[in-house]
Amino acid sequence: MAQKSRLVVVSNRVPSPSEVSPEEGRSVPVGGLVSAVRPAMEKVGGLWLGWSGKSAGGPPQTTPDVTSLGNIELATLNLSSNDVSLFYTGFANRTLWPLLHSFTEHVVIRRDTYRAYRRINRRFAEALFPMLRDGDQVLVNDFHLFHVGEELRDLGWKGKIGFFLHVPFPPSDIFSILPWSPDILRGLVSYDLVGLHTEGYRRNLAETLESEIGGAVRDWDYFGEDGSTRLGVYHVGIDMGVFAEPAVADVDALATELSLPSSPEHQMILGVDRLDYTKGIPTRLRAFRRMLEHRPATRGKVSLVQISSPSRTRVPEYQTEKVAVDQLVGEINGQFSEAGWTPIRYLYRSYPQRELACFYSLADVCMVTPLRDGMNLVAKEFVASQGDTPGVLLLSRFCGAASSMTDAIIVNPYDVDGTAEATYRALRMSSTERRERWCSLARVIRQHTENSWSDAFHSDLAGV
Ligand code: UDP
Ligand code: G6P
Repeated sequence: MAQKSRLVVVSNRVPSPSEVSPEEGRSVPVGGLVSAVRPAMEKVGGLWLGWSGKSAGGPPQTTPDVTSLGNIELATLNLSSNDVSLFYTGFANRTLWPLLHSFTEHVVIRRDTYRAYRRINRRFAEALFPMLRDGDQVLVNDFHLFHVGEELRDLGWKGKIGFFLHVPFPPSDIFSILPWSPDILRGLVSYDLVGLHTEGYRRNLAETLESEIGGAVRDWDYFGEDGSTRLGVYHVGIDMGVFAEPAVADVDALATELSLPSSPEHQMILGVDRLDYTKGIPTRLRAFRRMLEHRPATRGKVSLVQISSPSRTRVPEYQTEKVAVDQLVGEINGQFSEAGWTPIRYLYRSYPQRELACFYSLADVCMVTPLRDGMNLVAKEFVASQGDTPGVLLLSRFCGAASSMTDAIIVNPYDVDGTAEATYRALRMSSTERRERWCSLARVIRQHTENSWSDAFHSDLAGV
């Protein structure tokens, strides 16, 4: 019988072994890529190469450190602090991240950061190449590593390579702001298969390829002078097991810890995000403030619990965002607090997912209101954590999840008044409507599990 091919995943961020410890878990970086890839990798096992998250002095590390995480062989590279600053903080987080999310005002164009980006992509490929075996299926993830496929080809790798983009792909007039857009697109067409979250991102990529490097897309196959590739859409799912039905005792303990007003009419709204300007935390806070202003009956009766996980704290735009959020929380709490009620409980930290499940379960409404987001797994996790009296999901129309989770209350987060009214409506929704909407959303997330997207991707990659 033919041996099943080994799965080899490459991404900048890798799971932290300390995530298994709830205490240490509070400080580990969190994000959708690891949440999406990890459960699928845990099922089948394989090799996962990425950055250790550490910077180190001395010559560049070329041979990764290898440890095991269950049945995952985890290979990590340290980067120098200069590389972290140019490649990760610089090109990945100050150029590509804002560009791909259409925040053009934040895009920084610097030649030295792009040079470092190319150099580190080459280093990832050189570290991986000697570890590859015939028959391996390589999956490169996300915007940090667009060029790894092309570098692997240059080193002589003949096997299949796929790429999955975990963030949006913007319209071509935005992507073409980048002076190196043709270079990056040529890197992309060296993959056998490129996966995206939604039809809209796939259309954007197809149009950008044609306009920036020529060639043509027919039935989602791209053919051009620089290569050919297939463009696919895959719905990233979540590990339902982690979120389904958190223990009642744990949920009760959390309610006590949060010391929210104990009256049965009190309602809780929840926000869970990395502290990132794409997540629209300030506009969400303004919508909450607007609701307290226009609907005085909600004062003392509704609290917003906002978890903001520290993220990319060295990036200036993130520091500015944190100042803006801190200030708004202070203003709103200063304006409305009463004896026994503080409108916003602001938690600037990260939680292990099992604890998040308790937050989700406690919430009457979850506000998932990013200004732009590739998919957004928090929306799915919230739905998975609901029991007999489900809460209501308020979802931004500008995230990938909105394309399938159409029975959420869909909002335009830029419209503060509209979002405030929709939040009020969600809080007052009848239990029958809550249940109907939740049943429909739960059906959607059961269709797209943590494994279905990776199974579909790998079977397509094997077939191209
Ligand atoms: N997350 C977590 N702990 C936290 C906050 C978030 O583990 O304190 C996880 C959350 O469960 C989700 C991921 O981080 O799986 C965030 O993914 P999402 O797609 O919503 O946004 P991203 O961070 O990828 O932009
Ligand atoms: C998003 C990106 C991921 C990234 C995550 C956390 O989900 O798509 O690639 O890992 O954010 O960001 P960080 O910079 O901490 O890796």
